[in-house]
Amino acid sequence: MLSPVPVVLVSCGGIKGWKANLITIAWAGNVCSDPPMLSIAVRPDRYSHAIIKTTGEFIVNVPSTDQVKATDWCGVVSGRDVDKFAGTGLTPAPGRKVACPMVMECPLNIECRVRKSLELGSHTLFLAEVVAVQVSSEVVDARGRLNLQKAGLMAFAHGHYFALGHHLGHFGFSVRKRKKRGRT
Ligand SMILES: Cc1cc2nc3c(=O)[nH]c(=O)nc-3n(C[C@H](O)[C@H](O)[C@H](O)COP(=O)(O)O)c2cc1C
Repeated sequence: MLSPVPVVLVSCGGIKGWKANLITIAWAGNVCSDPPMLSIAVRPDRYSHAIIKTTGEFIVNVPSTDQVKATDWCGVVSGRDVDKFAGTGLTPAPGRKVACPMVMECPLNIECRVRKSLELGSHTLFLAEVVAVQVSSEVVDARGRLNLQKAGLMAFAHGHYFALGHHLGHFGFSVRKRKKRGRT
């Protein structure tokens, strides 16, 4: 019931005899800012689980709405049976700090190294340190800030994909002092 959540394409493999693979993950989250860390929850029966467990690396590729179909498809077929890069037409590109490939078409690529894995039950929680971040220059404005409109980020809620909707406010807007109106 905790929703909406992000939906991301996690790339892994391409090393230590594993083929490069993509897995769709909705149970992903930021968990620490110093050191920067995130988590992904992966079921042990996923092909990607064995890859991440043995290589200790993955990349969280944050897709835009342009990649929604590929994102869904990577979540319904297994890398045991298909080559998901070939099947989606997504382009693998080298990471900066990790050996597995990232997805070129995704606006944000977050390179991760596993620091801890917790077997929780149905899922293994991989806690990973962010070792590099790549951002497509097309979604960054002149001041180096992420242009949310251009990034076209998505959310996942109760089995459905959504584009981000109306802007409601910014961080801290509820306590921001109003500018005085009238004469000075
Ligand atoms: C929207 C969506 C979100 C998903 N989230 C997760 C998740 O958080 N954890 C997980 O283990 N599987 C999740 N899955 C299922 C896997 O992506 C799916 O089983 C995939 O085929 C596994 O690929 P693999 O066998 O190549 O690793 C999700 C699927 C979809 C479509």
